[in-house]
Amino acid sequence: MERLLIDGGTVLSGELRASGAKNSALKMFAAALLADEPVTISNVPHLKDITTMIELLVSLGVEVVIDEKMNIEIHANTIKRFKAPYELVKTMRASFNVLGPLLAHYGQAEVSLPGGCAIGSRPVDQHLRGLEALGAKIDMSDGYVRASAPKGLKGGKIVFDFKTVGGTEHLMMTACLAEGQTTLENCAREPEIVDLANFLNKMGAKVSGAGKDIINIVGVKSMGSCSHTVIPDRVEAGTYLIAAAATGGSIKIKNVNPGHLEAVLDKLREAGASITVKADSIELDMRGSRPKAVSLITAPYPDYPTDLQAQIMAMNCVAEGSGRITETVFENRFMHVHEMSRMGAKVKLEANNTSAITTGVPSLRGAPVMANDLRASVSLVIAGLVAEGQTVIDRIYHIDRGYEQVEEKLQKLGARIKRLAPQIR
Ligand code: EPZ
Repeated sequence: MERLLIDGGTVLSGELRASGAKNSALKMFAAALLADEPVTISNVPHLKDITTMIELLVSLGVEVVIDEKMNIEIHANTIKRFKAPYELVKTMRASFNVLGPLLAHYGQAEVSLPGGCAIGSRPVDQHLRGLEALGAKIDMSDGYVRASAPKGLKGGKIVFDFKTVGGTEHLMMTACLAEGQTTLENCAREPEIVDLANFLNKMGAKVSGAGKDIINIVGVKSMGSCSHTVIPDRVEAGTYLIAAAATGGSIKIKNVNPGHLEAVLDKLREAGASITVKADSIELDMRGSRPKAVSLITAPYPDYPTDLQAQIMAMNCVAEGSGRITETVFENRFMHVHEMSRMGAKVKLEANNTSAITTGVPSLRGAPVMANDLRASVSLVIAGLVAEGQTVIDRIYHIDRGYEQVEEKLQKLGARIKRLAPQIR
């Protein structure tokens, strides 16, 4: 397996352009199955998860044309099969979201259940209950969901038990081809959901209210061709901002929507960063000083995102003072804590492992580490950047799932980081 080698101790400084949002693009690929004509999606990041989604579409018989700039044209009308196999769903949960669009457009779908994953059990009960409320007949056996709607889906009212990003997106796209009106209540409000709604509307759907608690969808008979540019990746941008803050550096991120990162920018200001925001850029400057520890609670948008929890914990580990980070979205998202402790971090888990209290140390010590989720892995990159000596991060395929050209981007900021070839064991 490939690894990353980091020589710690550099102060990051420079400019970067944020990539397109992985978590938007992935859902658009599923939503493209609703269309009768080709759709084009631009600003798609070049990532392993995107490749997995393309593989899934191709396995269904869908024609996918990619140009050198990662503009991706999807011709769903060439579809031949309606099954998403375990091998593809287990490596990337977002592929489960093809279930609703296949069902809505073609009346049938067979999709593997995703199962648990490293950060939590991650059930799909809200997705399935919503599909049933739209009239789907659902059978589960051998680890697969087999869904049918021979007479088409019918609009209905769905009240989510709690905020779910994937559940909101899945039902919002499925309802586009259901007969009549659908109301979704207690919806998640993430910017990626708004981006997906804009994409659906360009394809001819009638979705209103995305980004608010209640989303209304008036079903249409068919959806057609469109071109759409994916929004910037707020989690990627936030990761580099936090990395720069942790090293006491300065950074400008271009092609970003600062409005999507308000909760994060508030915490970085609290940590001592001077932040300048323009329409599509964010500049952060620590003026060479050590960050101050922050306390926060992760929660659905617009609150502080779980996807930037591990990264800010890495900053807290070398910050002045003590901070409490509480994770409320996933039940097992502190795996980075043990690896950071091996690098000399002082972190104590409390409240049944839902809160992590850090006491900052002036510097961590490099060590061999690994993590088994995307954001935990990148938090170890930040820890490596602020550590004395060398850190080798194993299992970096997790990072490649969500960070485009991670070492090139960090090198551009002055980091001493390189990719090592797989070890012969
Ligand atoms: C999305 O996951 C993102 N993934 C995650 O990003 C992100 O962490 C998460 O939203 C929260 O913001 C993609 O967009 C591909 P949820 P999702 O449904 O949709 C529970 C990353 O690092 N739940 O909002 O799966 C669930 O277990 C990834 O890029 C149910 O119990 O998240 C979790 O505890 C990781 N039943 C909570 O709700 C359901 O039917 C929120 O999950 C659905 C969810």
